[in-house]
Amino acid sequence: MIKTSICDLLGIEYPIFQGGMAWVSDAVLAAAVSNSGGLGIIAAGSAPASFVSEQIKKAKELTDKPFGVNIMLMSPFAEEIAKVVAREKVPVVTTGAGNPSRFMKLWIDEGIKVIPLIASTGHAKMVQRSGAVAVVAEGCEAGGHIGELTTMALVPQVCDAVNIPVIAAGGIGDGRGIAAAFMLGAAGVQIGTRFLAAKECGIHQNYKDKVIAAKDIDTIATGKRLGHPVRSIKTPFSRDLFAKEYDASISNEELEALGTGALQLAAVQGDLNKGCFMAGQISGLVKKEQTAKEIISELVEEAVKQGDRFSASFMKQKTCPPASTCPPASKIAFVFAGQGAQYAGMGQDLYEHFGCVRELFDMSPEIRDLCFNGPKEQLDMTINTQPAVFLVDLACVTILSGKGIKADGVAGFSLGEIPAACYAGLMSISQAFQFVTHRAKAMHECAQKKKGSMYAVLKLSAKEVKDICDSLTDTYPVNFNSPGQTVVACSEGSAEKLQKAVAEQGGKSMKLAASGAFHSPFMNKASESIAAYLENIDLGTLNIPLYSNTTAREYKIEDAKELLTKHINHPVLWQKSIENMIADGFKTFIEAGPGKTLSGLIKKINPDVSVYNVSDIPSLEKTVLLLQEKEHSKTKL
Ligand SMILES: Cc1cc2nc3c(=O)[nH]c(=O)nc-3n(C[C@H](O)[C@H](O)[C@H](O)COP(=O)(O)O)c2cc1C
Repeated sequence: MIKTSICDLLGIEYPIFQGGMAWVSDAVLAAAVSNSGGLGIIAAGSAPASFVSEQIKKAKELTDKPFGVNIMLMSPFAEEIAKVVAREKVPVVTTGAGNPSRFMKLWIDEGIKVIPLIASTGHAKMVQRSGAVAVVAEGCEAGGHIGELTTMALVPQVCDAVNIPVIAAGGIGDGRGIAAAFMLGAAGVQIGTRFLAAKECGIHQNYKDKVIAAKDIDTIATGKRLGHPVRSIKTPFSRDLFAKEYDASISNEELEALGTGALQLAAVQGDLNKGCFMAGQISGLVKKEQTAKEIISELVEEAVKQGDRFSASFMKQKTCPPASTCPPASKIAFVFAGQGAQYAGMGQDLYEHFGCVRELFDMSPEIRDLCFNGPKEQLDMTINTQPAVFLVDLACVTILSGKGIKADGVAGFSLGEIPAACYAGLMSISQAFQFVTHRAKAMHECAQKKKGSMYAVLKLSAKEVKDICDSLTDTYPVNFNSPGQTVVACSEGSAEKLQKAVAEQGGKSMKLAASGAFHSPFMNKASESIAAYLENIDLGTLNIPLYSNTTAREYKIEDAKELLTKHINHPVLWQKSIENMIADGFKTFIEAGPGKTLSGLIKKINPDVSVYNVSDIPSLEKTVLLLQEKEHSKTKL
């Protein structure tokens, strides 16, 4: 098993891309790779848009797995092809030879994941800013057009420069290369040369034979004088081209003309005299023709072996201090906002800018429109607030994940526990959305029947607030938020007495805009309804720890239904949950969803941890930048 963040991001089994190769990778090869668990990529090269359109249609017939299209931005047809891939909603677009910024909005709006090929850190940062979900960092060992830096030097520097996943390319031909790429910080690899020898690769047999016969020193980089070097197999033609670069009597135009069309001659006609057999330095490792499936299986098996070998020898060599003296690793937690944080307009800029959250909001056009346009009175009704906040919370973490920022554990405040559970894997998105809708309805109906209200009590300890509640009827401490902040739920009849008692003790009470006495016995009927609803639901698993509001501890999968049921009519132990998470090694908290209430509470609970929030584009950009800076200062230390 070699699973990385790029697998989740693209929905592929293995983090292996077959690089787009002009005149080489068509629908047949791409589909064969995708069907084998990797990401197959059709190359547009300099072909017209109609060819690309045909290939996309063919690939869709040959595979139901994600595949990509590679667009050479220098192609005279780039603009038309950009529109074709948008129209066809191709899952992934990779780009070569330039800056794809001008097409980014078009593609992102269609939910397409854009992964540009880059050869420097500056280029990587630029495409990250334009909305790329990952980059392919290609070193000059690669076949085809190449940059200056080697894979070994380029990949770790790009990994430091961006916070989106980095795919390493150039000189990777077996599992050792894949394992090495992971060590450099890559989340996946892109392979071109080895797939030239795939049985499904339709190039001329002469081409395949040349790659298979090549030794380590049998490639050459030509075209440096023209500013766009190309690596190919040494042939009389490529050696002659190389020599001519040093011949001042030959003009650049003549040189350019010699290379034009030479790849096509090699790939289609196998022309041994005038063809340019583009291939990388790793050709020496390619020994035979194999199917795409065989290649991928072999790559995966070897990579796993290398990983095991490395861990074994690493463990032998490393003298680790006893566990008790090891500081716990700093983990990242996502904390999901609950009710009360909603505002009309929430999530709208994310929806407009990030295609990856469109599908989420479009699950319910009514709730989506309420999020974006209100009116406030409608949005503030529990029945609407819960699904609305749920969507915005999840949209924020979807975008963070796309940028390679993942949580090691989650918690959510009140309603926020449901998007947290969904992120952790307990429910699928549609299952969680239906659950939230039911939950909101049950709580709304309960609140209609049993009228109650909620008050934030400030300046008193939790114990003092508890004592006051014990002295009154129908009054319950329900949210233990932070030191000096406890929320009380009570009947309308007890509200005045509560306010008076709080004032007498020197505290302050503030009525909250909650439409019911949530998390108290007033919600018993809603809790029963949730229990009945969950009886027929198959929950998923927990991929990361999910901290429960009710116990302040990690969920155990076998208790999940009970916890979701109790959650409705039991207090939210927020302060304790955060304290437990910190004790478990969480030192970075990212609040996801509208507002920054939870950030404020966490800072009060423990001012030493790092707290960020993501609710819209400005806060997203700020958080990503701060996390990036933090990561950099850590590496410098
Ligand atoms: C014959 C050939 C054609 C290529 N054409 C393209 C292309 O059209 N667009 C592109 O972005 N990369 C192109 N590449 C680069 C590959 O997609 C891939 O990044 C590279 O081959 C990886 O390095 P490797 O050859 O060492 O495996 C090409 C590579 C080869 C060998």
